[in-house]
Amino acid sequence: MNKRLRNSLILCLIVCLALAALCLTQVALAQTSSSKTLPALLLGTAWYPEQWPESRWEADLTLMQKAGVHFVRVGEFAWSRMEPEEGHYDLDWLDRAVAAAAKHDIYTVLGTPTAAPPAWLTKKYPETLRTREDGRRDEHGNRAQGNWANPKYREMARKIVEQMAKRFGHNPNVLGWQIDNEYSEVSYDPETRAQFQQWLKARYGTLDNLNARWTTSYWSETYTAWDQIPIQTGYGNPGLLLSWMRFVSDTWRSYQKNQTDVIRANCDARQFITTNTMGPYDGFDHYTVTQDLDFAAWDDYVGEGHLNPVLNGAGHDLTRGFKQKNFWVMETQPGFVNWAEANNSLDKGEVRAMAWHDVGHGADAVSYWQWRSALNGQEQYHGNIVGPDGTPVPLYSEVSQVGQEFAKAGPVLAGTSPKSQIAILHSYDSRWAIQWQKHNRQYNPIEEIMSYYGPLRSIAQSIDIISPAAPLNQYKLVVAPGLNVISDAVAKNLIAYVQNGGHLVLGQRSGMKDDDNALQPERQPGPLAALLGGRVEQYYALTEPVPFEGQWGNGESRLWAELLSTKDPETSVLMRYGKSNGWLDGQPAAITRKVGKGRITYIGAWLDPQTMAEAAKWMAEDSGIQTPLPGVPAGVEVNPRYGAHGVVYILINFAKQTQTVNLPAPMNDVLQGGSKQSVELPTYGVAILAAGQ
Ligand code: GAL
Repeated sequence: MNKRLRNSLILCLIVCLALAALCLTQVALAQTSSSKTLPALLLGTAWYPEQWPESRWEADLTLMQKAGVHFVRVGEFAWSRMEPEEGHYDLDWLDRAVAAAAKHDIYTVLGTPTAAPPAWLTKKYPETLRTREDGRRDEHGNRAQGNWANPKYREMARKIVEQMAKRFGHNPNVLGWQIDNEYSEVSYDPETRAQFQQWLKARYGTLDNLNARWTTSYWSETYTAWDQIPIQTGYGNPGLLLSWMRFVSDTWRSYQKNQTDVIRANCDARQFITTNTMGPYDGFDHYTVTQDLDFAAWDDYVGEGHLNPVLNGAGHDLTRGFKQKNFWVMETQPGFVNWAEANNSLDKGEVRAMAWHDVGHGADAVSYWQWRSALNGQEQYHGNIVGPDGTPVPLYSEVSQVGQEFAKAGPVLAGTSPKSQIAILHSYDSRWAIQWQKHNRQYNPIEEIMSYYGPLRSIAQSIDIISPAAPLNQYKLVVAPGLNVISDAVAKNLIAYVQNGGHLVLGQRSGMKDDDNALQPERQPGPLAALLGGRVEQYYALTEPVPFEGQWGNGESRLWAELLSTKDPETSVLMRYGKSNGWLDGQPAAITRKVGKGRITYIGAWLDPQTMAEAAKWMAEDSGIQTPLPGVPAGVEVNPRYGAHGVVYILINFAKQTQTVNLPAPMNDVLQGGSKQSVELPTYGVAILAAGQ
């Protein structure tokens, strides 16, 4: 072997050994982080390291670690810090922040910063600023001023997100990603309008088809070219209004996909992607937009007043229903907010109760907004966990208690989730359709849903709120309040459910519109009328309540009354109206028909709370609903979570007085320890009870 060849071989060997050593170190590193199993319940906080000198980070992270914080949510408004000039990226500080947190056993959730574009960007490319509905361009200085549909904005967003993904996609301390922040502001610029027209072309194919489905012969609305079609919101052709909202939903989805694609291409599969939505907010169809996410997350704020467990619980159940699995509370208030009319604080103990309420409804993480207020900036007055001096505010101890309790209960709750016997169907199409033509100014579709949700939840102790397109066979009872718009596919889903033995209850205003928001050519409930063996003869907006009586006792309908009729000998009348406008007197208000083992019921009146409670009992009994933990005093909310090892009940007392809960069998008290036959709960008291563990 000549000398040169030998030297090359030795060099090769050295290089190979060095490479092998490097690989081994990396595998070892990766193993160190992945061998740490992620706690089942995570406590987090929004942290903005870019707002503070780095010398301050250590003190903050030490306090977080002491409080039991598992993750910080970082970066979602820091674009100008990450890209101070076009194409000059600076992520070193973020890397140092992630590493500093990891030293304290704190993971990071990275927010993509696209809800707050830098001033240089929108100045250089003014088309990236959104145009408001009144035609004015938004300005720099607040947030969400970016134009979601604009190709340049998307290009710039993709580039910064790509830099982040390449840098952090394999970082073992980065748990996952939040895209943007609370999608809400859309743009009405001519380019977006052109995109809408293209969207319509793709949906309707021809103008003849669009004109027919929207009945544009009405008011001379006929279109002879796609570019004639305007954007309408609030008041306009119902087909156009609904199309615009669907376009908005699809555009948020593609805006998001622009980012999720680049993240997925550069990240470990273990890193999740989500975004933070806003509970009942209806600015887009959340079933459409959350399709490409790993799980849903929402920002849960009480604002003024105190936690309303029924309303807040429905917000959780709605969010859980987007992906039909456990979710995260990505933001929640540490005591109080700064944007309500009166920003009162939650009472002592209420923040903790709220955290357990979140978990009870299926949250696996609760994250406070925010750790500490920026010294300057629009939200100086918002609640936080440490004050401007960097030392804990009084609430710190309560957050620390949540941290300790999450650590204690996490292993017992691992792998558990709520399981419901009842589904309430919720559709954005229907909510929008009713809101655009309320017909009675106080008619509120959310209130209608809640009138069913409250009493049914107290019986079943868990409700799923889901899309009418979701599979339904797992439910004993499916309730559709105000399912105004029913597409052919949804009609098929509902009919099959009843034919397979389910009990479907339709609430007032159901089955009036088709998939283009046009009136169904049959009377309500349109495609379900034949199955019901009955129909709505006429609807009446009410200025005075109308009495009714029957199977569920007697009471009054407010705001709305539908005069029903039966057409089939098997369809029976459950409730009748009393004396009112003459038309309704003595006429059916609720009817029902058994279909094989299944049943379909239509309720045309807005039931008052007492009658609704009786109606809920009837629905539950008829459908064979069991109360998981019976005999619990009113005011104590029961939240069962089920797993392979049995059921864990999260009990929270929202009553003003101490209450005793007697248990049907001894259960393991996870927080206090010991086996209990009964527990005593003060106001906002929480008990976690494991049965069958
Ligand atoms: C949320 C927002 C946060 C913060 C918070 C204050 O809507 O995502 O960034 O502004 O409100 O309550």
